[in-house]
Amino acid sequence: MNLLDLIKENAQKQLKRIVLPEGEEERTLKAADIVLKNGYAEIILIGNPAKIHELATLYGLENITKANIIDPKNFEKEGVYTDLMVQLRIHKGMTKEKAKELIKNPLYLATLMIKNGDADGEVAGANNATGDVLRPAFQYVKTLPGISVVSGAFIMILPEKTFGEDGMLVFADCAVHPDPDDKQLAEIAVATANTARAIARIEPRIAMLSFSTKGSAKHEMADKVISATKIAREMEPSLQIDGELQADAALVEAIGIKKAPGSNIAGNANVLVFPNLESGNIAYKLVERLANAQAIGPILQGMAAPINDLSRGCSVDDIVNMVAITANQAMK
Ligand code: ACO
Repeated sequence: MNLLDLIKENAQKQLKRIVLPEGEEERTLKAADIVLKNGYAEIILIGNPAKIHELATLYGLENITKANIIDPKNFEKEGVYTDLMVQLRIHKGMTKEKAKELIKNPLYLATLMIKNGDADGEVAGANNATGDVLRPAFQYVKTLPGISVVSGAFIMILPEKTFGEDGMLVFADCAVHPDPDDKQLAEIAVATANTARAIARIEPRIAMLSFSTKGSAKHEMADKVISATKIAREMEPSLQIDGELQADAALVEAIGIKKAPGSNIAGNANVLVFPNLESGNIAYKLVERLANAQAIGPILQGMAAPINDLSRGCSVDDIVNMVAITANQAMK
């Protein structure tokens, strides 16, 4: 069974409530129908109920009747959610009037549902830009205790099975935080270890990547990675992590032995943590295209509840997969 099938099978064991704020969007609605048909999650659709039922009939979707539909213009918990918004953001100047306006936006409504315990996770982004999906999540759901920064991981499945864990590697951060400092980079490593265990189902062996291996180059950018490795070890002493390592030293045993003798990660890594978003985002796209790898993600990590952002070019299957991944994250 492949990894996505395992993730879907696991989702069926404990139904989580996943809110889809783009409830009138065609691919989202078709994905919701598949999720409901297969029992991967309970689905909450945000949108006009009459419109959603009309579209479901038009597309021949028979399972949408099982979804819980929330009309953003008329829902019973408006007062509860707007009070919560004011309570959580009063220090940022949030007022009842501003909250009443914002809560009409389905992306805000979805995060408030999660914050209030009315949903377990969210998938959005088929119709909205990354920043618009993430901002309400950052503001209201916030990060896990001990983590200050949300990041995005990809599970990379390569046809070449000699690297990582039988050809599987986890890359981060490839999606969210442009320029982490050493503490934030350490948090990204710890969060990625959790994603590797919970979603990729592997025991992480983390390489903190740089252009330098064990002091081969002297530069403040390499120093940041050395410091991040130290902080990550302090955060989670049992973590199998090493750095700074170049990518070849991290992945190829013969080079690892030569460049980083004594390292238990060099030549043996299955998780690659990149020093910044530029390198992480470029790397995952190069590996996807040039090595013909399957890239599963971005899987957002470090948030207090699972919220995942889709590419606007996503397919129906991408949304189904992301709902199943989000449901798995919600089980932790
Ligand atoms: N983790 C947690 N909280 C964050 C993060 C983060 N990574 N970044 C910002 N925040 C918080 C801030 O602290 C702030 O909180 P506050 O209002 O309580 O003070 C709030 O979010 C807004 O912060 P801004 O700095 O105004 O952030 P902004 O909303 O402008 O940007 C964003 C956030 C959109 C995620 C930005 O960092 C970004 O554009 N990142 C790159 C995303 C991207 O384009 N990725 C590549 C494409 S994805 C792909 O290829 C798979």
